[in-house]
Amino acid sequence: MNAAAPGEALLEARGLTRMFAGLAAVQELSFGVAPGAIKAVIGPNGAGKTTLLNLLSGFIEPSAGEIRFGGARIDAIPAHARVGRGMARTFQNLQVFGRMTALENVMVGRHVRSRAGYFAGLLSTPASRRETEAARAAALAALARVGLERRAHTEATDLSFGELKLLELARALASEPRLLLLDEPAAGLALAETDRMAGVIREINARGVTVVLVEHNMRLVMSISHDILVLNFGRRIAEGSPEAVQAEPAVIEAYLGRDDDA
Ligand SMILES: Nc1ncnc2c1ncn2[C@@H]1O[C@H](COP(=O)(O)OP(=O)(O)OP(=O)(O)O)[C@@H](O)[C@H]1O
Ligand SMILES: [Mg+2]
Repeated sequence: MNAAAPGEALLEARGLTRMFAGLAAVQELSFGVAPGAIKAVIGPNGAGKTTLLNLLSGFIEPSAGEIRFGGARIDAIPAHARVGRGMARTFQNLQVFGRMTALENVMVGRHVRSRAGYFAGLLSTPASRRETEAARAAALAALARVGLERRAHTEATDLSFGELKLLELARALASEPRLLLLDEPAAGLALAETDRMAGVIREINARGVTVVLVEHNMRLVMSISHDILVLNFGRRIAEGSPEAVQAEPAVIEAYLGRDDDA
């Protein structure tokens, strides 16, 4: 009912394991993400959520196991090649250039789609000018998708924290991904900003982008996820619908006595 059957999943992990000096941050993890789904990955601090996103996006290599995306093995290809295949991610800590405008921040993130590259685009050849124009149009479209079109020419330092989180999302969207990997998009957001983020993610998903959502904010997780994977000490302790995982004794136990902002 939850994980897609083999062959159906857009993203699939099999026996995925990552060791750090004898500690298994992710341990023999197998799961699928169905095309079109919003799949949340939750768990206490240190459960292995960011490590999992790093493995899926190619920032680190697995110690064991396989990752398939669109049916093809991707665990041996570099991060930029995974972006080329339609994967994009955001980071738990903001990765924004303060002195650049919102538009420039998104364009820097888009250079992977451009043959000439962002910095080559600053040189004026006809081909690079066309690519810069295309990148600019795509970046503006991405800003519009997160509701920041009117902030396009504002320097990042003048954006609110909530707007910066949306800017990160726009940068990921600018590469036109099929799959979006989000690491705590609601961390530090106030209630109204959390609800705005929920609406933006839901809208992106409704337009066909599959989402893996790592998040502590249960208001966001429970309101938009179709399916939830719960990790503890790198292992799966539960998986299923929001209702089902909340009723799981192992999940309640993992969160008991924890100070997570549920
Ligand atoms: N580069 C690294 N070197 C050594 N240990 C690491 C490294 N990255 C993560 N770990 C360890 O792996 C475990 C999982 O960390 P990870 O950051 O994936 O957890 P998380 O679920 O994202 O936690 P949080 O909710 O706090 O963001 C932790 O014990 C962490 O200390
Ligand atoms: Mg993390």
